Amino acid sequence: MKTALHLGQTLEMRANPFEGDPATALCHTRLGGVLVTDGRIAAVGAADALCAAHPTVPRIDHGAGLILPGFVDAHAHAAQTAILARWSARLTDWLSSHTFPEEMRFADPAYAGQMAALYLDLCLDHGTTTAASFCTIHPESVRALMARAEVLGLSWVAGRVMMDRNAPAALTDSAETAYDESAALIAEWQGRGRLTYAITPRFAPTSSPAQLEAAGALWAAHPGCLMQTHLSEQTEEVAWVKALYPEAAGYLDVYDRMGLLGPGALMGHAIHLTEAEWARVAETGTALVHCPTSNTFLGSGIFAMARAQAARIPVGLATDVGGGSSFSMLRTMAAAFELGQLAGHRMHPAHLLWLATAGGARALRLGDRIGALAPGQDADFIVLDLGSTAAIRAQVARAEDVWDAVFPTIMMGDDRAIAAVYAGGQALRGQVRPGAAGGPG
Ligand code: GUN
Ligand code: ZN
Repeated sequence: MKTALHLGQTLEMRANPFEGDPATALCHTRLGGVLVTDGRIAAVGAADALCAAHPTVPRIDHGAGLILPGFVDAHAHAAQTAILARWSARLTDWLSSHTFPEEMRFADPAYAGQMAALYLDLCLDHGTTTAASFCTIHPESVRALMARAEVLGLSWVAGRVMMDRNAPAALTDSAETAYDESAALIAEWQGRGRLTYAITPRFAPTSSPAQLEAAGALWAAHPGCLMQTHLSEQTEEVAWVKALYPEAAGYLDVYDRMGLLGPGALMGHAIHLTEAEWARVAETGTALVHCPTSNTFLGSGIFAMARAQAARIPVGLATDVGGGSSFSMLRTMAAAFELGQLAGHRMHPAHLLWLATAGGARALRLGDRIGALAPGQDADFIVLDLGSTAAIRAQVARAEDVWDAVFPTIMMGDDRAIAAVYAGGQALRGQVRPGAAGGPG
């Protein structure tokens, strides 16, 4: 049995802060500890009590670092790692100028392998221990990412993009090949180790009705998989879908008719929804994923977070790399806060941290295993340095509580704030200094 006791400040995600008092939904302990046994969290509590109860267990002292669950990026494109921050107009222009040419490069398995390794390295540098990643239409792009995530011991979600129209010929498949190649990848990866497969029709404009129907049939045959796509990101896109699918009542209905709504369905963006669509999302238990840096970068609009939370819709937070302009979930939380301010919805730091951890984990149906820093969960956690730059230290000098102490890191922090990263109890980032058992830690 492999056991370690991590000491530091701790932040447990006990309840959804949007449904009660945000300051108490998350439980902060100034001198806390996390006991890890065989890759799982065995106990979370006060440091002195844990030290007394486990006097011989090796200790890892994170000092004043804040231990919290690893970040969950609920929507990102692993194959867009090399095209962040490309000067563009809006979505369709950006897709054709930058995205599709880059995704074509993944036909080369060597390039796919190199970029999968870089993408996961960047995620870990930024404290992201789980993401729902779109790959490309090339099965090798999924194999490369899943294989690397498996080596690193990560709980990762990925899927082969399906698209059979409105894209360059080199990036299109058919309903049949998309079904068959996705089914083969599901057989290979779904539930293997800590991996989850997501059936991934890119979005309604790049799939024929036959292909979306195939995606629905595939999900019905493999209900343990997730299903990820895009929904109502930009107004022009909504109009395009209306023209492509005149028989449907609207964009969401295109997916609904194909059996693509329900728990485990992840809809990226969901900005321009009608009243009927909001009701249907809530009724079906479909999850929405807020991608704030992408929404400002591509000029898409403002996601109605308060409305989604009031309707108790599962909501994840995401970078949407590379429409989004950062790998950092800290930067993503900052952008979510800023868009909330513009919408007249001031979010508490607890709201932001919840969205980046337990909220995302629940949207991905992984909430029983990750996202909460609780006994029984997998030991995927990070340590935040709350004074990672001189500018941040100047803000926290007079902090009166954990929220004052953490908010400047949310707003101003980057990968320098990520002091350590653990997945399944294994250190993947940060200097690990095991303390002598029996000492003060
Ligand atoms: N809609 C369809 N494909 C994409 C994509 O790659 N990024 C974003 N932001 N929106 C999309
Ligand atoms: Zn996306």
